[in-house]
Amino acid sequence: MKQFPTDFLWGGAIAANQVEGAWREDGKGISTSDVQPQGIFGEVDERKTDRFSLKDIAIDFYHRYPEDIALFSEMGFGILRVSIAWTRIFPKGDESTPCEAGLAYYDKLFDELAKHGIKAMVTLSHYEMPWHLVTEYGGWSNREVIAFFERYAKVVFKRYAEKVKWWLTFNEINMSLHAPLTGVGLRAGCRESDVYQAIHHQLVASALAVRACHLIIPDAKIGNMLLGGLVYPLSCQPNDVLATLQENRKWLFFGDVQCRGAYPGYMLRYFRDQGIDVVITEEDKHILKQTVDFISFSYYMTGCVTADEALNKQSRGNILNMVPNPHLSASEWGWQIDPVGLRTLLNVLWDRYRKPLFIVENGLGAKDCPDEQGQLNDDYRINYMNDHLVQVREAIEDGVEVLGYTSWGPIDLISASKAEISKRYGFIYVDRHDDGSGTLVRMKKKSFFWYQDVIRTQGACLK
Ligand code: BG6
Repeated sequence: MKQFPTDFLWGGAIAANQVEGAWREDGKGISTSDVQPQGIFGEVDERKTDRFSLKDIAIDFYHRYPEDIALFSEMGFGILRVSIAWTRIFPKGDESTPCEAGLAYYDKLFDELAKHGIKAMVTLSHYEMPWHLVTEYGGWSNREVIAFFERYAKVVFKRYAEKVKWWLTFNEINMSLHAPLTGVGLRAGCRESDVYQAIHHQLVASALAVRACHLIIPDAKIGNMLLGGLVYPLSCQPNDVLATLQENRKWLFFGDVQCRGAYPGYMLRYFRDQGIDVVITEEDKHILKQTVDFISFSYYMTGCVTADEALNKQSRGNILNMVPNPHLSASEWGWQIDPVGLRTLLNVLWDRYRKPLFIVENGLGAKDCPDEQGQLNDDYRINYMNDHLVQVREAIEDGVEVLGYTSWGPIDLISASKAEISKRYGFIYVDRHDDGSGTLVRMKKKSFFWYQDVIRTQGACLK
């Protein structure tokens, strides 16, 4: 029987701004996530008082983490991916000394994980940065922000050197092309060249974090994090195939820089063709040579690309503006479900980079409702995850080095794109609703016991 490697890491992934709540506790500063009450594509509420935001309390993980970690442990997690809220450590981003209360919180969190034998994987910046760096510095378009990030990264590497051996730099770094405020702190309406300049600064900051991590925690591993946005040609028409290559390169570009240490020629040509002028210094080129130890990515869906502009315009719909694939069904949110695409993506990334891969997000957002007996029978989630994991196993058989799998949202949390909780991903249900009502009580769904079995049998129970 095909098996997962015995050291394969099983677990789940969450992000500070989607679970913690406590948005003003212990000196936390305001982040870009705090001022976007409607999610990463929503309007900015600068005063941060006008509109109710589910994220203010979220699922109250800030206070309830011991209970949640105990449940993760019951499922058999070997690893939990979390993020540190930059604004808990440097509330405004440009201070010279960190906030001790914020550092102490993550000490407690990592200690609790260790108590259960669960490794911590930490994303330095998951869809948030200090809002002050946006208003006063212009976000990542300003070179000064690189040094602020590097300082923050060094502080947490030193503080948690003994507790955290798995690190990621920026969550879905390629998402800046679709959500520039969330990704690089740029306001709506910014020019494409500003976005790429900001991205360049972020890529330099990522490489500096890699360097610092290697120096401060030599036995740690640090990776990048890509939104695995695999697209297929809508037809075998050569222009569709070329357009697809170009579309895939829009996100693979980030991996190319972070794994190969230099800008690829196709990107420099794109900049020339579009009149995009990105300042890249000789020192930047040198810094970018610090490449990541492994590649992590999220995978939810695939889509199609066509060179036919008219067709493009009428069919674009989902968050990445992909053309729907006529052969695939979709989730309630229109995300097309494609387990085989995960095997393809793993092979594409392995063939391209030859670096170990870690699937750090995958899951199904669905509207779960307890039945009359109070049971949560989420067979649709079980089927979705079973089919994806079977394809991961196939990819491993193909020879791809896969380090582990952390499902997205092992406990219900606030959606990034919609800022609602009715889009649930968890194995654990949280009694909270989009209007803010609910007791926050946790309940095990059917998938809780299924995932527990998957981990216990090292995937042997997959069908
Ligand atoms: C990824 C993000 O894009 O997808 C997560 O890294 C996010 O933060 C997840 O929550 C699922 O997206 P959504 O919009 O359903 O929450």
